[in-house]
Amino acid sequence: MNDQINVELKAFYYYLSMAAYFGRVDVALPGCESFFMQMHHEEHEHAQRFCNYVKMRGGKVHLCAVSPPDDQDWKCPLHAFKTALQLEIDVSKKLVAVNTVAVKHGDLNASDFIVTGFMNDQMKSVNEMGKFVSVLSGIGDQALARFVFDKDLLDNHVMPDFNVLKRSDQKRKFNK
Ligand SMILES: [Fe+2]
Repeated sequence: MNDQINVELKAFYYYLSMAAYFGRVDVALPGCESFFMQMHHEEHEHAQRFCNYVKMRGGKVHLCAVSPPDDQDWKCPLHAFKTALQLEIDVSKKLVAVNTVAVKHGDLNASDFIVTGFMNDQMKSVNEMGKFVSVLSGIGDQALARFVFDKDLLDNHVMPDFNVLKRSDQKRKFNK
């Protein structure tokens, strides 16, 4: 479970890096920025849920170092989304590994926490990232197509609280 917390926090860190990149003045893709900020908060929530579960079961939360991305210049949405897809696949594999340990020890409650609480949403995330990579693979360097992709991301895949074009920093709360 502590390993799971670490991979969730790695995703949390990478998504923050991506959001910061797409929010740069010389990049300015608000859909990508908002989407990755939303993902960043989602991963934080996942890590917190695992921490709370470990505590509830009488265990000890042991945090490990979280490394930053090797290259924080994401260059284009395709590169970022490909990395995001791989992150989600890695998180999925770790979930399966943790569940295997739980099943091996006959810990039905831990297994249920993982399978019911995470597995389905995790598969949806892999599916969603995979589709974005497919769409972006066909876009290449076309500026207009990238603009439309970014706008669609903002309009259809970002909750209002994470829309950087509409948010009020005073009103935003970390866990929304
Ligand atoms: Fe997660």
